[in-house]
Amino acid sequence: MDLVGDLTLKLIHKGKVRDIYRVGAERDRLLLMVASDRVSAFDVVMTEEIRDKGKILTAMSAFWFEYLGGRFPNHLVTSDPTSNELGEDLPEEFRGRSMLVKEAEMLPIECIVRGYLAGSALKEYQVSRTVHGQRLSPGLSGGTKFPEPLFTPSTKAESGHDLNISFEEASTMVGENVAARVREMSLEIYRIGASRAEEAGVVLADTKFEFGFIDGEIAICDEVLTPDSSRIWEASELLAGGEPTAYDKQPLRDWLESTGWNKMPPPPSLPKAVRESLRNRYVAVYERISGREFLG
Ligand SMILES: Nc1ncnc2c1ncn2[C@@H]1O[C@H](COP(=O)(O)OP(=O)(O)OP(=O)(O)O)[C@@H](O)[C@H]1O
Ligand SMILES: [Mg+2]
Repeated sequence: MDLVGDLTLKLIHKGKVRDIYRVGAERDRLLLMVASDRVSAFDVVMTEEIRDKGKILTAMSAFWFEYLGGRFPNHLVTSDPTSNELGEDLPEEFRGRSMLVKEAEMLPIECIVRGYLAGSALKEYQVSRTVHGQRLSPGLSGGTKFPEPLFTPSTKAESGHDLNISFEEASTMVGENVAARVREMSLEIYRIGASRAEEAGVVLADTKFEFGFIDGEIAICDEVLTPDSSRIWEASELLAGGEPTAYDKQPLRDWLESTGWNKMPPPPSLPKAVRESLRNRYVAVYERISGREFLG
């Protein structure tokens, strides 16, 4: 397909972070996913943007699709805006933040894998000593590594918050074979990702995947192992028993909570120091894990 000089784009969905364009005719089933610099926290999109964020996320997913390539089907056609498929006519503001992908029939679940006790799992544990309904030993603190990573799926809410669901509920929604397959794929990708992260001196505490059907096959879609979709910690600091530096949205969530915000729009406006610190952490973790330089 040659789109140079003939790129028809139609905006079909505006997500919290990404703008999705249909490329060409519907039957081509090609989408352009453009990652903006928007940032959401507690399911609310902030008023201010994080400089370069869309480019960093795109570079990170591109790295992982390449790294995982061959092992699992995925939706990526190309993330290189100078390649023929995307063409030189790509609007300047889309460059470096776009991925041409195959349109998938998305599964209505989020496939979360947790290697460490954190986030909503920690909150649940503190209330009921369970994680995703599973009873754990008493006295665990945040940052504890689970003996085995846990698959803790949730619904993919059209609006509002996602709800945790059991494996059985996930099976009811997508079919048992599909649920078992995405559980297996999620745990395997997590394992590969966590091991690469470890080599880079960071811990992949947890992450979220989205899968969809492309030509009858289950493929990894959306973004993969990015600081927006994962919790990533400084390994040495975790080992030393301190609160590890978080290379993800946690510093933003912490700052928002410190303001006493009720988590309903409008959000408080983000000071420059908060935005730049988040940006620099995203760049740092991208560079460490990928071994590539962020060129902006
Ligand atoms: N290959 C694909 N085909 C179709 N849809 C996809 C594909 N990959 C990802 N998506 C969907 O595109 C959207 C990406 O946008 P974004 O990340 O901004 O959304 P979000 O904030 O996570 O959720 P929402 O879209 O509900 O606001 C998600 O809804 C995701 O499920
Ligand atoms: Mg998303």
